[in-house]
Amino acid sequence: MTRTPYVAGNWKMHGTRRKAAALARAVAAAQGDTTARRCTVFPTFVHLDIVRRNLRDSTVRLGAQNCHPEPEGAYTGEISAPMLRDVGVESVLVGHSERRHLFGERDAFLADKLQAVLETGLEAVFCVGETLEERESGRTFAVLERQLGALRRVAPDQAGRLVVAYEPVWAIGTGRTATPAQAQEAHAEVRRLAGAILGADAAATLPLLYGGSVKPGNAPDLLAQDDVDGLLVGGASLDGDSFADILGAAAP
Ligand code: PGA
Repeated sequence: MTRTPYVAGNWKMHGTRRKAAALARAVAAAQGDTTARRCTVFPTFVHLDIVRRNLRDSTVRLGAQNCHPEPEGAYTGEISAPMLRDVGVESVLVGHSERRHLFGERDAFLADKLQAVLETGLEAVFCVGETLEERESGRTFAVLERQLGALRRVAPDQAGRLVVAYEPVWAIGTGRTATPAQAQEAHAEVRRLAGAILGADAAATLPLLYGGSVKPGNAPDLLAQDDVDGLLVGGASLDGDSFADILGAAAP
């Protein structure tokens, strides 16, 4: 059983149309037409279209950073999964720690979003991870179990479009990365917990990404871990050369 390496770039709230287009072209050039690794970029909503046009002729896929669970309605300022699909989005981040912690999104709301993304036929990159306080008080696995409860809403025929990203909150944007051993320990637990919900076969093929201060220098050791199938990269994804190096670490 093999899981294709997967590198994702979360551009967060950065860039201009011009910068997003240039970065998309750089990522497209680095990825080319290979299928030896999967690559998705997650620009802001307003840059989706120009990024999509600049990814042309590459195997880089277009992702969005968020969506609302409802397909449409009176939700000022929100964007739905069907709207994202309509503009060419193939993947959506759900439950990024910034959504959970800065915007107060709770497990039940995120479970609704996860279901909406998968029902729309899109891939969902469902993000989980503990805070420093939760880790230091020995609650990491309990937090992962609670957050992964959302997977109960994943139908058997949707599991192939699910990706889980483990992103310890204390490692995001802090320059403090989990050690490869810490990442492997958490990933093995995520796979075990996912298996208890989705079944062993679905868990065995489930891509698990690590995120949190991933850089070209630490990418190879993280990717060498058995249960680390890929990386969700924030800061280092905004630099075309750094992201290209990380892609190279995932599959030459
Ligand atoms: P970072 O962000 O690589 O800048 O730590 C990762 C993420 O938030 O997905």
